[in-house]
Amino acid sequence: MIKNTYEKYVLPKLLDTCCSTKPVNYQRKKIVPNASGTILEIGIGSGLNIPFYNFSNIDKVYGLDPSVELCEKAMIKAKELNVNIDFLINGAEEIKLKSNSIDTVLITYTLCSIPNPDDALKEIKRVMKSDANILFCEHGIAPDIKVSKWQNRINPLWGKLFGGCSINRDIPKILNNSGFKIYNLKQMYLPSTPKIVGYNSWGTASL
Ligand SMILES: C[S@@+](CC[C@H](N)C(=O)[O-])C[C@H]1O[C@@H](n2cnc3c(N)ncnc32)[C@H](O)[C@@H]1O
Repeated sequence: MIKNTYEKYVLPKLLDTCCSTKPVNYQRKKIVPNASGTILEIGIGSGLNIPFYNFSNIDKVYGLDPSVELCEKAMIKAKELNVNIDFLINGAEEIKLKSNSIDTVLITYTLCSIPNPDDALKEIKRVMKSDANILFCEHGIAPDIKVSKWQNRINPLWGKLFGGCSINRDIPKILNNSGFKIYNLKQMYLPSTPKIVGYNSWGTASL
């Protein structure tokens, strides 16, 4: 795929900035340290979760993302923090890993951007061990009709500006429909964040 100037130079910086606000980093702190064993991070992006991993519980981290530009940023971060991550530059619809090989799948603010999350979740299921967990934190459709109306209105333009991000997906429903059970689901509007992108859902999903 040939990328235009916006996608190559502007979008990676924009995503890195928007995803590193104080409330978003607070969310990362709640879930990332719980990842253990052999980990697959879906949509590692610019590597904003890397500082929150607890490497004493970790055997290996694979970081998957189709964006070369974002993976390069994540590689720099991994090097600065002196941690070893194997990068898979690919979409989650095709994961170049063996079946039943992953203990923890980490997904933060990425199910919004995967063009077909059902296909990706099918592939994620394939690589997960039977007792593996998905740790997730995502933004999505708000429960308040006034907010969700705006989300639906703005969504087509939003996607064009933010790398295909949809602000109106029901992430818990998508996980449930793909056969995952969700434990400890928590939901709230993040503070100091516009409501149209601030309604977060996070928890643990397993098969
Ligand atoms: C909003 S960014 C979030 C990045 C990172 N997960 C974080 O928490 O900061 C969305 C990410 O989804 C990635 N993405 C887009 N399509 C994808 C796909 N098909 N499979 C996996 N990741 C994808 C983008 O490249 C981008 O890194």
